[in-house]
Order: sequence, then C-alpha cells, then structure tokens
Amino acid sequence: CAVAAVVVANRMKARSQKTTARKILLEFQEACDTPLSRLRQVVDAMAVEMHAGLVSEGGSKLKMLPTFVDRLPDGNEKGLYYAVDLGGTNFRVLRVQLGGLEGRVIKQEYEEVAIPPELMLGTSQELFDFIAAELVSFVAREGDDFRLHEGQSREIGFTFSFPVKQTAVNSGTLIHWTKGFKVNDAVGQDVVAALQRGIERRGHKMRIAALVNDTVGTLAGGRYWNNDVMIAVILGTGTNACYVERAENVSKFTGEIPESGQMVINMEWGNFWSSHLPRTFVDELLDNESLNPGEYGFEKMISGMYLGDCVRRVLVKMAQEAGIFGTNVPHKLLEAFSLRTPDMSKMHHDDSSDLKVVAEVLKRVYGIQNTTVGIRKIVVEVCDTLCQRGARLAAAGIVGILKKIGRDGSTANGSVRRNNMFEQGDMNGYHDELPVNYTSDGRTVVAMDGGLYEHYIEFRNYMQEAVVDLLGEGSKNVFIELSKDGSGIGAALLAASHAEHVPSTF
Ligand code: GLC
Repeated sequence: CAVAAVVVANRMKARSQKTTARKILLEFQEACDTPLSRLRQVVDAMAVEMHAGLVSEGGSKLKMLPTFVDRLPDGNEKGLYYAVDLGGTNFRVLRVQLGGLEGRVIKQEYEEVAIPPELMLGTSQELFDFIAAELVSFVAREGDDFRLHEGQSREIGFTFSFPVKQTAVNSGTLIHWTKGFKVNDAVGQDVVAALQRGIERRGHKMRIAALVNDTVGTLAGGRYWNNDVMIAVILGTGTNACYVERAENVSKFTGEIPESGQMVINMEWGNFWSSHLPRTFVDELLDNESLNPGEYGFEKMISGMYLGDCVRRVLVKMAQEAGIFGTNVPHKLLEAFSLRTPDMSKMHHDDSSDLKVVAEVLKRVYGIQNTTVGIRKIVVEVCDTLCQRGARLAAAGIVGILKKIGRDGSTANGSVRRNNMFEQGDMNGYHDELPVNYTSDGRTVVAMDGGLYEHYIEFRNYMQEAVVDLLGEGSKNVFIELSKDGSGIGAALLAASHAEHVPSTF
C-alpha cells in the first residue's frame, strides 16, 4: 500500500512538472512567434536599415561595408591560386588550378583543421603565425599537377569572416571580433599585413591579392558558375549577407566610382536590429553573457554558434521552475554553450516514437537519465520553436535584400520595364530601385553556404517556406542555391581577377 502511494505521488509529481514545463513552453512560443505580419515588418526594417547604412558611416547598426570588389569572376580566370579561410569553427587552406572558360576548375585540393580554441582568445601574432604556418606547409606540398605560370608569384585569396573596414581589395582593418573570437591586439590592425608578416617570419614571400569576407567569397564562387547570383548568405557558426549594389547608391563611399558601376557590399547583417524582432528572456541572458554584449543581436537569434545555447537556456528555466530533470538542476546544464547546435538538430530530427535520440543526447551531454517521453517531447518543441524563429528571421532578411534591390517581385513587370529604360539611358528618378545586371528572364539566385543551412534540415525547410510565403508569386524567380565551400574558392577566384601577373596563356 505504501509502495502504491509512492507510485501515485510520483505520477502526480511528473504530471505537475509537465504542466509547469508546458506553461513555460507556451509562453516562450508566444514570445518567439513570427507570423507573416511580423516578418513583413522585419523585411521592411531590413530594407530601410540597408539604405541608412549606405548613406552615412554609422547611419545604421548595419555596417554595409564597401568591399572594393567591383567585378566578379566570369569564368575566364586562369592559373594557380591559393586561398586561406579563417572565420568559423575550422580553418581551411585551398589550392586551385583554373583553366579559363573551357577548363574551369581543373583541379582543387584543400585541407581543413579545427582552430585551436586558445588561439581564438590569444594574441594577434599567435593567430597569424598559425595561419601562416598552415599555409606555408600546404604550399610546400604542391604536387606536379599544379603549375605556376612563368613569372607568376603565388597569389593568395584571404577569406577573413569578420567585419573589416577595407581600404583596398587587398587591405583592411579589423573593426571588432564576432563569433567567440577575442584577439584584442588585432582590432584596428591591417589583417593582410599581419598575415604577410607571419608568412615572412617563416622566410617566405607570397602576395595576398584579395581580402574577402566569407559572404563575398561565396558570392564570387556562385557567380563563377551562374550569372544570376546577386546575393550571398552565410548560415553557419555566424550569419551574414552580401550583395551587388549600384556603386552610386553607396553615398558614404568616398572612393572613385568603379567602371563597372557596381560594388559588393558586406552587410554584416548579424548586427541588424529592429524593435520588430521577437526578443525573449533567452536573448537577454545570452547577450549579457556573450563576448560581444549589445552587438550582433540578429546573429544571436539565428546562427549555429548560438541556437543550441538558446535551447539550453529554456531548458534551464524548465529545470529550475518545473524540475523537469529532477530535484537538482544538472550542473553541466548551467554551463554556457554546453548544448551545441548539431545536438539540438539531432534531437529536433528525432522521429522515433519514444524519442530515443533526445534521451541519448540528454544523457551523453548532461548525464540526465530516465526522462519521460512527455518531457522529451517538450525538449523537441523547444528546439522547434527556436529553429523556426531563426529560420524565419533569416528568410525575412533575404527578402529584405531582395526588396532593396527591387527583386522581390513586388514590381514584377516594373523591374523589367525600368531596366529597359536604364538600357536606353533614361534613369530619371529610378536610381535607387534599379536592379543591377538584370537578366532577361528576371531570375535572382541567392548563393548560400554554411553548416546550419546545409545540415539542419528543419531549419532549411522553415527558411525556404517563409521565403516563399513572403514573396508569394515573386518567389518563382528567386532561387536559393547551396554553394558549398564557395567562399574558399571564391577568394581564390577574386585573387585571380586581382592578381598582379595574370598569365596570358596557360
Ligand atoms: C559573423 C562575422 C561576419 C561573417 C559571418 C558568417 O557575423 O562578423 O563577417 O560573414 O559571421 O561567417
């Protein structure tokens, strides 16, 4: 009888835990809600902020950085090029042999290493020495298949995925770090010169021909294959976008208007902010404890570095207030960043009837045993809520850019008409909305890269669905294409088009 009483008491306790947890979940879902009406406000805010960021320095939280990239690869690039890629979880070096329009990418090789975490918080010299050492030893292992043209030096494209104030296509100073990096003495430094010094310390000489953000590399890599690529988006450890803008719209740019009339703009959209974003207690806590408080709020709601931690913070609340993981809150659950986004995605993706993947992750990461299926379901719903919010906000960001460049379909025929007028030289009053390089069939391709988009299927689906819902009819002209590892090859391609000695024959 006593045993029966304990069983009943336990059941009642479990039920009340679940009820309290559900209540927390419902409140959280409401706070995260992104109905189309709200997303439309985000779209508009994005377009407005883009405009403001182009007009004056500091005119918006969107930095809208001119990249000095005014022409994109067209397939004619020839020769041997290298790229180094620093910016996310991994560091990559790449070599590529380009054969021009017929040969295209004849051969490419790359190596990838995880960035030692201590380097992310160390000194500039340590970080750039590490990059230089990897590059130099990779170059030394160049096989016979790769040929350097007579008189050609090794030209490097440097993908550096942080906000940089460029002064030329191959120089620029770091504005600040993002994504968990904090190498203080590098801020304000010319990162190309820093890498160059690292290479020289190893007794080598190489020319860094292009310094590019990963978004810009992805844009270049995408454009190499497809002329309709106008926008590139990264959804990975961090998130960002760049796009092709009409140079004369960049009023804050004091340099000479390039011949092409175009300029690629690195938006640094991770720092976008608008009162329409659904901010919750999770975002506040995460921001306060981050390495860059008050900054990159959009990135903190969307990208792979943060999503898992947002989930963890909701689970902490449920553990503390509803006791879902027992009387004591598991110690490790209180540790920031202990739940990684790949584990979140695994739990979210669990389609077994008893949610055994969820149980496995909770046990492996936190040592939590014996969760009920009811509690596991709640965990999945937390993942779903945050994944959906992030994906839909990213979608609104993309549609905001499409709107800014007049390709969101809202002026379906109008865009083409205006473009024809442009060709006839009649641009009166239409500067701001003229689509750049508008192709006859009106297709716009968004080149996409990043592990979050590539591996987190639910995220990708939610994002695509929201883009379609926002664009309506216009969505049939917009294509989002995965351009895997495009940023490395894109940097090599930009090194090719900005190289000192472009071989005339190959
Ligand atoms: C961060 C960086 C940005 C980069 C993005 C994606 O937002 O600041 O430069 O493009 O992450 O890697």
